Amino acid sequence: MNTEQPLALLGGLTPRQFMKRHWQKKPLLVRHAISNFVPCLGRAELVALAGQEGVESRLIIDSDKGWKMKHGPLAKRSLPPFSRKKWTFLVQGVDLHHDGVHALMQQFRFIPDARLDDVMISYATEGGGVGPHFDSYDVFLLQAHGQRRWRIGRNKDLTLQSGVPLKILQNFEAEEEFVLNPGDMLYLPPKYAHDGVAENECMTWSIGFRAPQKGELAREMLQGLADEAFDGLGDALYRDPQQLAVSCPAAIPQALGDFARQVVDQAVQNPDLLGSLLGEYLTEPKSNVWFEAPASEPALSAGVQLDRRSKMMYDQKHIFINGESFRVAGKDARLLRVLADDRALSAMALRSLSPDAKEALLDWAHAGWLHARSMT
Ligand code: SIN
Ligand code: CO
Repeated sequence: MNTEQPLALLGGLTPRQFMKRHWQKKPLLVRHAISNFVPCLGRAELVALAGQEGVESRLIIDSDKGWKMKHGPLAKRSLPPFSRKKWTFLVQGVDLHHDGVHALMQQFRFIPDARLDDVMISYATEGGGVGPHFDSYDVFLLQAHGQRRWRIGRNKDLTLQSGVPLKILQNFEAEEEFVLNPGDMLYLPPKYAHDGVAENECMTWSIGFRAPQKGELAREMLQGLADEAFDGLGDALYRDPQQLAVSCPAAIPQALGDFARQVVDQAVQNPDLLGSLLGEYLTEPKSNVWFEAPASEPALSAGVQLDRRSKMMYDQKHIFINGESFRVAGKDARLLRVLADDRALSAMALRSLSPDAKEALLDWAHAGWLHARSMT
């Protein structure tokens, strides 16, 4: 993507300017981010998705007795009537289930794939919403249908109400307020307090991000390093020909402590392995994602495109796809990076791949990770 091109999506800012001025820093309201936006998915389709096993959804009702929340799958008959006010249902990861929604998410690829998470879609009746709250991640809130009134603020006090099934701020103080129409969009950095209330029947698409947590990432990396260390460092024993006779036999020898630190250092000093563990972790499919093998033998000669559920990334030495890593170099590395960036590869580029890389692509096609390029 050209990061120097002003985009209507960002209110005329270039992706570079947006990242410098707003990303992780301050909100941006964009009127007509997508002009004449007609959502490619309507209420009935969203209801059907919320009813499916393996699709994450929630129903939230703001009733006289307080907030109520129910996790999906949500059968259509279990939803309140759309004539009733103050309720909403939300469907997570719609980009995994719908090509059109996945296509819209591609407009946000001026941000690395490693940070992009999913598109969540909410549908609310008048007065519906999830209450004043903050999110831990950045979000673009794109109004898709109807109007929503957003009140936002930099709340210093992030204390949550207790005894409610949702994360609701105890003392929300709005500083700004906007009503968003279809095609308008609001960007919010992490921890920015907000409350979106539907003015009428309304649908909002949230383009959401993810960021690895320090502790979780350390655990992932260290587990991988531990497995490799066990196999890689071998079974050489600690030796102590210099050990002196001791009068305090329970004391652990200093040299044994040094030996332990040395083997841990050796295990961690493995930048190549750290790189591949990170890529495998970042491209691991979500637990509710599964791929279908093609019904017939895939014919890839006309080019390929990644399945919308596939996650593909790369670093200087590897290509990663759906939790697996491949060491690549030269022309193969160049072409497979194009596949990862463009999510497609032309017939001509495909012909230039080495026999090994072609074989890998065929395996990925058999796994349902990529398909023959459609002629659209
Ligand atoms: C919603 O769409 O109702 C909530 C989205 C959000 O506040 O993050
Ligand atoms: Co939110």
